[in-house]
Amino acid sequence: MNLSSALTKYYENEHLRRRGENKPKQTQFQTQRLSKLFLPFTFLCPIYNLTMQNWKIQNLLNWITQHFEQKRIDSPRLSAELLLSHVLAMERIELYTQFDKPVTKEQLHSLHDLVKRAGQHEPIRYLIGKTKFYSLELNVTPDCMIPRPETELLTERAIEFLRTRTGTQFVCDLCTGCACIAIAIAKNFPDARIIATDICDAALGIAAKNVEKHQLKERITLLCGDLFDPIMPQLDVNKFDLIVCNPPYVSAAEFEKLDKNIKDHEPKLALFAGDDGLDIYRRICEKVHQFLKPNAALILEIGFAQGPAVKELLERTGIFAEIKIEKDFHNNDRIVTAIIRMSF
Ligand SMILES: C[S@@+](CC[C@H](N)C(=O)[O-])C[C@H]1O[C@@H](n2cnc3c(N)ncnc32)[C@H](O)[C@@H]1O
Repeated sequence: MNLSSALTKYYENEHLRRRGENKPKQTQFQTQRLSKLFLPFTFLCPIYNLTMQNWKIQNLLNWITQHFEQKRIDSPRLSAELLLSHVLAMERIELYTQFDKPVTKEQLHSLHDLVKRAGQHEPIRYLIGKTKFYSLELNVTPDCMIPRPETELLTERAIEFLRTRTGTQFVCDLCTGCACIAIAIAKNFPDARIIATDICDAALGIAAKNVEKHQLKERITLLCGDLFDPIMPQLDVNKFDLIVCNPPYVSAAEFEKLDKNIKDHEPKLALFAGDDGLDIYRRICEKVHQFLKPNAALILEIGFAQGPAVKELLERTGIFAEIKIEKDFHNNDRIVTAIIRMSF
């Protein structure tokens, strides 16, 4: 069976299963009664389930998905696919082309531990040690924040801005974390030379692995320190064509309300930015004029309610000719692009 027919068959079955149309009425009734009795037992006894039964990929995938639904884990099917493909060392798509493949005891053992931890709200990307950003695979650990899809929009705007220009472009990525933005820019704009900074040495350790993995050591320099501080001594490059930054921007009140998987597992240093969440923007605005060339751009990610406040901070610097706020795919303010005046 080829890939597309395997997928079609799976989705047809899934569609019928949801509508309860692929079983005779009596069998369906019996199954429902049985599963009502059996399901609480299966969720209470994950060890029994993951070690005692003869599991194949298909029923394992379904069982983990149901377990995650019960535990209210985000995107239960995707999470189950990510864990399973990680443990079986397969691409996600291969789970569907090898539905009937049995899973070994050793694999079940590793899976059991990961499923249990995921059920306790450990982020799936930390459990598997990697994530995708801008179609690139990156390593992540609890030392760095997991890159979010919203940040891909910032990255896209950065690449678009660079493509309007010619020659080598000097880019600064403040608060780089695992270096997702810097790496995506470098991969998509070969004339970019990037300095990426972060105050957290451990996060920069992950960034260094990612830069190496994507063979970008010649074009991305990682520096440890507070915002612009580590750039000052770099006398050869201290004015940039573009500065990008996805800083911490969670306020004190928002921090308390964060989901358990974020609050208990992602670094507070990557999230929290003072009472109103604006601390880092204020500090960027104080110094940014020293680091931008005429006609250069500053592109920032912001919290959904921070548009007006960040715009005002940028206006007060008096150096920007144009400040634009853009919404993300949830219709929230998310990206600010500020273009500097020709002379200032
Ligand atoms: C929201 S995360 C962004 C990480 C990555 N750029 C991304 O988009 O996923 C913010 C990062 O800022 C770093 N950070 C926090 N305060 C900083 C400061 N004062 N100077 C430099 N980096 C800082 C944190 O260590 C964290 O890696």
